[in-house]
Amino acid sequence: MTSVLVLYMSRQGHTARIARHICQSIEAAGSRAAMMDVVEATHEGVDWDRHDVVALGAPVLYGTYDKSFLEFVAAHEADLSKKPNSFFNVSVVARTPEKATVAGNRYMQKFLELSPWKPKDLKVIAGKVDYPSWAWHERFMIRLIMKYTDGPTDPTTVIDYTDWDDVAAYGRHLLTLR
Ligand SMILES: Cc1cc2nc3c(=O)[nH]c(=O)nc-3n(C[C@H](O)[C@H](O)[C@H](O)COP(=O)(O)O)c2cc1C
Repeated sequence: MTSVLVLYMSRQGHTARIARHICQSIEAAGSRAAMMDVVEATHEGVDWDRHDVVALGAPVLYGTYDKSFLEFVAAHEADLSKKPNSFFNVSVVARTPEKATVAGNRYMQKFLELSPWKPKDLKVIAGKVDYPSWAWHERFMIRLIMKYTDGPTDPTTVIDYTDWDDVAAYGRHLLTLR
């Protein structure tokens, strides 16, 4: 039975929800899935040999990725490359169809520039706008990004842009990676 490991970094829980949904769809397809936070993976280690496929995901924060996440990727380039693998990013700009593609999402290009690990498979996933839960300076910055990309700027906005059926399909897709 194929076993998929979904490693993720999540600042406020949305990427964790996405990782869980991926795992649920893999299990619904009759395979095994495990999810692990990269903070836990960094400190506790990963039993890479237990899994056949590995997916790694992170949210886009201020146009880039958390430093500890990039450090994890650099430290485990060889482990990640050893088996079928995939990278997914989560961003609110991916709410539009043109930025929801690998070629159209500049944060994906940025990851490929920053990462020594070159994933075999890539996926862009739209995240969540949650102004009330963000600190004022974060709200300010993201409202600015939204202003330039024609998104919501009302500071009370909470919108989940994730296409959950597509996330489930991505989970099943991971099982087809060779
Ligand atoms: C501090 C901060 C900075 C962000 N910067 C960007 C950004 O530059 N571009 C973007 O598309 N989304 C940006 N976002 C949106 C997040 O990628 C989105 O909310 C994602 O769902 C967060 O996932 P998490 O809950 O797993 O941390 C930012 C969010 C926060 C809180």
